[in-house]
Amino acid sequence: MISCFLHEVRTVLATIDEPMAREFVGLLDRAADITPAGDPTPCPFPDLERAAGMASAATQPSIDALLAAAPEMPWRRPDPAVVPPGWAHRAATVEVIGPDGAIPPATNERFGIFLLDTECNYPDHWHDAEELYVVLAGSGDWTVGEATRTLRSGDHSRTPSQAHHAIRTSDQPVFTVYGWSGDTSYDNYRF
Ligand SMILES: [Fe+2]
Repeated sequence: MISCFLHEVRTVLATIDEPMAREFVGLLDRAADITPAGDPTPCPFPDLERAAGMASAATQPSIDALLAAAPEMPWRRPDPAVVPPGWAHRAATVEVIGPDGAIPPATNERFGIFLLDTECNYPDHWHDAEELYVVLAGSGDWTVGEATRTLRSGDHSRTPSQAHHAIRTSDQPVFTVYGWSGDTSYDNYRF
């Protein structure tokens, strides 16, 4: 089931004209035949099924596959010891591929799922890794540097290494996949 989700996400990524999207298409291709290890943990995000009504035609298959695979995944909250305070209790994430992920090993990449509920503010922060978010359902405002854009299903945002960025939601949650590339340690994660 997780492999079906990754297959559908690959289809979405392949439509994005962006070097990091192409990098993660390659990563998903390399991971395609690997069976994820690890024990599933229940998703702490309330009413995950909300996502089904918030996708676009292009992202609906990936959301359907996400909902089907969710019970197999090792969900967690973002680590409150690492991230800015005040929002992690209303977010959920799975590192699917990466050093802490269900599918090891990655070389210099992390890839996973990131969900942020309504009316949340993931405040300004930065890290060494380059970052790519692709919205599969819902919407949110991404600020990178001085520019803020509202992302909806199928939209993406790329953050260069060490660029300040933040995410804010309002009346819709946002359901995303993310990629980190480069120095994927949390040694240089600051807020
Ligand atoms: Fe980030």
